[in-house]
This record gives sequence, structure tokens and C-alpha cells, in this order.
Amino acid sequence: MNKENFILQATELYKTYHLGKANVDVLEGVDLAINKGEFIAIVGASGSGKSTLLHILGTLDKPDKGEVRFAGQNLAKLKMRKLNKFRNKTIGFVFQFYHLLDELTVLENVLIPAMAQKSVFGWLFSRKTAKNRAKELLNQMGLADRIGHKPYQLSGGERQRVAIARALMNGPELLLADEPTGNLDSETGNGILKVFETLNKAGQTIVMVTHDERIAQRAGRIITLVDGKISI
Ligand SMILES: Nc1ncnc2c1ncn2[C@@H]1O[C@H](COP(=O)(O)OP(=O)(O)O)[C@@H](O)[C@H]1O
Ligand SMILES: [Mg+2]
Repeated sequence: MNKENFILQATELYKTYHLGKANVDVLEGVDLAINKGEFIAIVGASGSGKSTLLHILGTLDKPDKGEVRFAGQNLAKLKMRKLNKFRNKTIGFVFQFYHLLDELTVLENVLIPAMAQKSVFGWLFSRKTAKNRAKELLNQMGLADRIGHKPYQLSGGERQRVAIARALMNGPELLLADEPTGNLDSETGNGILKVFETLNKAGQTIVMVTHDERIAQRAGRIITLVDGKISI
């Protein structure tokens, strides 16, 4: 593998949670390198640290030790504001329970990451382009006739597709998904996996966490977490 092509490189990641007097060692030396264009599944038993790892890779959480480099850049060096900007622009997140805002329409939900990037004036200037992109993404997700709906008026599979459109809004270099099919029946989950496969074929780098080996088989590479480490 060519080092230049690594979009993300994690070295010797350690993470321990402290609950009262108990220490829970979750990550104990995780090394991971992801190439541009890969579709990776991270599997492991419940509680094995998959979500913890994904959050650290996505800069939503920090390791106690070790480093995460994005295209060679050490993210620990970024101050909060720069890090938030970096995350908003570069990384898209999809979660098991969608995390959509019920008081907003489908279209407004998808627009959030674009709005978050702009000042008030910047937004006034760019919102038309953003709206067109959001509509195009929703169209791509088969939701063209749902843009005015509220999330609670949609099925689980439709909500997850809205969440995927939102994650793609800023054209992220990396898409991270935590058990994206975990709340869906197998047929609906299959539809979500097909969306990921299509995106990956078009070049999207994806890291998906799942506890389900069968779902993991759909990815190009499977990484297994055992006892806080990647098992080889
Ligand atoms: N914020 C937290 N505080 C304390 N313990 C936590 C916290 N988050 C996760 N844990 C514990 O760390 C372990 C790994 O959790 P997690 O990364 O969510 O695993 P997975 O996603 O593989 O199910 C679990 O034992 C969990 O209970
Ligand atoms: Mg989890």
C-alpha cells in the first residue's frame, strides 16, 4: 500500500473510560490505515469498542494515547474551531438512530451541514446552490417526493436515507457509519447497503461499524476488534 494514499491513519490508539473506581480499557493499541476509496467494515462483539473507535476516527472523541492523521495531518494539533470546521467539511456521519431533527423538514435536515459552515451573509448568498444540492442528493436517495415531510412521517429506511443525504451534503472525503442498518429489518437494511455500495463505486471512502458479520461481508475489507485490538 502506498502511504500517500492513506486518507486516515490511526496509530497506537488507547482509550479507557473511568466509571467511579472502575476503569474500562476499551482500546489498547489500535493501528489502522485506510486507503482512499476503500469500503471498510469494523466488526466486533457488542461492547468491544467499535463506536468508541469510530468516534475517535471521526474526531468526535479523543484517544488517551496515540494519534489520528488525516491525509498526513495530525488532527490533535487543531484547535477546537479549526477541528469543528475540518469535521464539518471532511467527514460525514450516519448513526443507527438517524439523529434527524423532527421539527425540521427533510430538506432542512439535509441543509444543516451546509448552513453550519456559513455566516449569515454567506448563507444568504449560497443557500440556493445548497438547496439544489440537497434536492439532488434526496433525489439520488429516492426521496424526491418527501422533501417537505417531517422525519416522523417517514419509515426507518427513508429516515436513514435522509441521514445519508445529510452526511453527503458537504461532499465529505470520508463517510463514517455506526450500525447504519441496526434499527432496520433485513430487506430495508439491504437497501441501505446498496446505497453504500453505489456511493463506494463512485469513489466514496466508507468506514462502517456493525456487529453483524453478514452485513460486514458487503464491505471490501473487514477489520475485527477483539480485546481492544485489531485481530489479525
Ligand atoms: N462514555 C462512556 N463512559 C463509560 N464507559 C463507556 C462509555 N462509552 C462506552 N463505554 C464502555 O466502553 C465499552 C465499549 O463501548 P462501545 O465503543 O460503545 O462498544 P460497541 O460500539 O462495540 O458496542 C463498553 O463496555 C461500554 O460500556
Ligand atoms: Mg456501538
